[in-house]
Amino acid sequence: MEFDFTALEAQERYRLLSNFVGPRPVALVSSAGPEGGQNAAPMSFFNVFSHEPPIVILGIQTRPDGAVKDTVLNIRETGEFVVNMVDLALAPGMLICGLPFDRDVDEIRTAGLTPLPGRLVRAPRIAEAPCAMECLVERLIDYDRRVIVLGQVVMMHVRPDCLDAAGRYVNPECYHPIARLHADNYVVADRQIELKAPDIASIVAVREAKL
Ligand SMILES: Cc1cc2nc3c(=O)[nH]c(=O)nc-3n(C[C@H](O)[C@H](O)[C@H](O)COP(=O)(O)O)c2cc1C
Repeated sequence: MEFDFTALEAQERYRLLSNFVGPRPVALVSSAGPEGGQNAAPMSFFNVFSHEPPIVILGIQTRPDGAVKDTVLNIRETGEFVVNMVDLALAPGMLICGLPFDRDVDEIRTAGLTPLPGRLVRAPRIAEAPCAMECLVERLIDYDRRVIVLGQVVMMHVRPDCLDAAGRYVNPECYHPIARLHADNYVVADRQIELKAPDIASIVAVREAKL
């Protein structure tokens, strides 16, 4: 089957893209309002796109009624946010943070999670997260109902059990992030496999033998 994206309704494009581009890591984005109120919301239109500079990207759309999400209001007003990675233990809290609460509701505490102050940003991070990245807004790209947020990571906090003994690499025994498929479907990254690329010379030799 083929789908002509230039002719499809937006909802159909969303359905196809979110069904087939996955699993997508989930960022639980915490932010602070200008008056100091705390907010958190999950975003799966998220990934890292560069390490020099270290850039993460979020895609955030308005609510179905067109209202701007609290995360966007906070990010625009403060220029800061924190990306908290989500594992299975954090998933129930993440789902509570995804509910459409009013702006004055502290979603972090409502979800039973623990806010900690950021080191370099005013946005709070979430103590239970296996990894949290403090970010400064690098730029905002506005589309009609969507804003794409580029954030520069300025500080990373990693739960000690998620690091290997040398403190350099992730410990796959402990770090099991979840990722979103479509709708309410997720996967847990708890079964790591190693895939090694073959030596290029052996591939070239086979190719030349066929010529
Ligand atoms: C797993 C998951 C992933 C989500 N990903 C996104 C996303 O990438 N972009 C978006 O605009 N909303 C996304 N949402 C919906 C928001 O989290 C939701 O609208 C939330 O209420 C926004 O909260 P806020 O108003 O506090 O920012 C997602 C929800 C869940 C549960």
